[in-house]
Amino acid sequence: MSVESPLLEARGISKSFGGLQALRDVSFSVKKGTIHAIIGPNGAGKSTLISVASGFIKPDKGQIYLGDACVDRLSPQERVRNGLVRTFQDVRGFSRLSVFENVLLGSHVHGPRGLMDFLIRARSVGRFNSSESENALSIMDAVGLAGDGAVALSVLPFGKQRLVGLARAMASRPRVILLDEPGAGLSREEMDVMVKAIQTLVAQGVSILLVEHHMSMIEQLSDEVTVLDFGQVICNGRWSDIRMDVRVREAYLGGTLTGHAAG
Ligand SMILES: Nc1ncnc2c1ncn2[C@@H]1O[C@H](COP(=O)(O)OP(=O)(O)OP(=O)(O)O)[C@@H](O)[C@H]1O
Ligand SMILES: [Mg+2]
Repeated sequence: MSVESPLLEARGISKSFGGLQALRDVSFSVKKGTIHAIIGPNGAGKSTLISVASGFIKPDKGQIYLGDACVDRLSPQERVRNGLVRTFQDVRGFSRLSVFENVLLGSHVHGPRGLMDFLIRARSVGRFNSSESENALSIMDAVGLAGDGAVALSVLPFGKQRLVGLARAMASRPRVILLDEPGAGLSREEMDVMVKAIQTLVAQGVSILLVEHHMSMIEQLSDEVTVLDFGQVICNGRWSDIRMDVRVREAYLGGTLTGHAAG
């Protein structure tokens, strides 16, 4: 597959919740090895789009392609096995488990048994799968969690908890990670760490669909940006080309496109 071929494609996605049309004929494509951002004001449909792409919500119309394969019939877990994994807008994880265990759990989708079995196996000395463990340790190292493996998730600072979410997604050995607001709630310093972590993972070959309100992150990270407003694509292009676009600025009326755009 060439650098320019789409790795993840949304084709004409529409989704209504009752009378509310959350997505209307949305199409975009994420090229291999790139970071493709989805931005838009609160309620624009960004998280819904991630839920549709990852299989948590069934669209009314449209298809999702991973490479050449339509994944519409696959469950979220089957999509993860095929290399398409998401993170959530809120921090999720097992608060009493260690950072290492939380990251390791990301790889359990490839195992033959359930989550509990995976955990028990991971904890029992001697039956530990070293390739999963090495994978988890190397990802923790890449995102800046190398010294935190033994710490319970709940006692980590918020910024590091978000890094654990990213690391856990990476542990499933994805081709594409769908990131829903990885910068939400982070301090400026924590955001810098997150930006570096994402850049490191992309350098390792993963592609990213990035939903984010912090325009500094969009500016630093995105290769291409799709702008959603009221569930519709209003603009698509490089950030440097679209940031002054009148449609984009109107969509953000009341916010600021230089910092935290909305929310
Ligand atoms: N499960 C649901 N049931 C009903 N309405 C929903 C549901 N999920 C989302 N919506 C509505 O769909 C619209 C799009 O929501 P979505 O969460 O995708 O927006 P968003 O762009 O992610 O916003 P934010 O920036 O605040 O996270 C909103 O009006 C929201 O209230
Ligand atoms: Mg959202």
